[in-house]
Amino acid sequence: MKHYEVIDAHAGAAVSGAEELAYEVLVGLSSTPKRLPSRYFYDDAGSALFARIMRLPEYYPTDCEREILETSGAEISATMERPFNLVDLGAGDGDKTLILLRDLVARDVDVVYVPIDISEGAMQGLVARIREELPTLQVQGLVGEYAQGVRWLAANREERANLILFLGSNVGNFDMPSARGFLGRLWAHMRLDDRLVVGFDLKKDIEKLLAAYNDSEGVTAQFNLNLLHRINRELGADFQVSGFRHYGTYDVKSGAMKSYLVSLERQEVRVEALERSFVFDPWEPIHTEYSYKYLRSDVDQLADDSGFVVVARHEDRQGWFMDDVWKPRRSPKLGT
Ligand SMILES: C[S@@+](CC[C@H](N)C(=O)[O-])C[C@H]1O[C@@H](n2cnc3c(N)ncnc32)[C@H](O)[C@@H]1O
Repeated sequence: MKHYEVIDAHAGAAVSGAEELAYEVLVGLSSTPKRLPSRYFYDDAGSALFARIMRLPEYYPTDCEREILETSGAEISATMERPFNLVDLGAGDGDKTLILLRDLVARDVDVVYVPIDISEGAMQGLVARIREELPTLQVQGLVGEYAQGVRWLAANREERANLILFLGSNVGNFDMPSARGFLGRLWAHMRLDDRLVVGFDLKKDIEKLLAAYNDSEGVTAQFNLNLLHRINRELGADFQVSGFRHYGTYDVKSGAMKSYLVSLERQEVRVEALERSFVFDPWEPIHTEYSYKYLRSDVDQLADDSGFVVVARHEDRQGWFMDDVWKPRRSPKLGT
């Protein structure tokens, strides 16, 4: 029996999930330079690979954020009046959120856990783990896009206050204007007594960044290349995946780690669902992911620009990662 709801992100919309992927591939591979959106990394195979990345010694963000939640998790939950929903946007395997959940259950706090993730495989694994480890916890998992999470907040606004988690540096996948736009949309649907916890990966030694996105076991490379396997499977494409290599680099000016798939030779790739081929020159890149790194002053500015006030800031010992707690800055006249 499923313990989560699969929201059809495309219900009532003009296009299906496969059509949306086809559209993104058409637009992305017709662009110069070529690009593909990072949210398509997370099919079941991609989610399993990302869970492996989080356990790699070079991938510091997970350990840093785990340390923050172990040290300050109870303080973060204590910002909420009870009862409340714990809404986890892009929950993934939920491993770090479980630190908060174990504490809340042990203290018998009336909380409903609402994980939202685009990956059904990740959601299945997370809900099964919660059933086993915390059987008394109420869970209402949703498989869908972040936008569904925003809609869920709007629809359930009268019920309870929400502690909204946007952990693991998910926000770093947005460029600044998109981050402002997304956080502003959340702001518009939040109650005054809601709180938002956002994870930010801070600017640091560039060698640490490069190592984290170019790990020695090559798991990040497999994760990136899985995008081509997915397009082969779901759109009937014929990418020779061994004809591409993963390349992760840091752009000092924008503060973004950027991931690419680089074609090693001239090749023509047919995408059957589009009835079209795409030509790749030798060493031509496809941009697949941004992972923006922040200064503390960038975060202050982002909070201000998207309608929030910073109420608490929690960092790991090394000062590499930060979980910020924000509240909406808004007159009660605008609504609850
Ligand atoms: C970098 S992982 C982080 C997972 C978790 N928050 C953590 O800190 O460990 C990003 C997660 O967000 C999900 N995701 C990415 N884009 C999404 C979108 N547009 N809507 C919903 N979920 C998304 C992915 O499936 C993945 O599980």
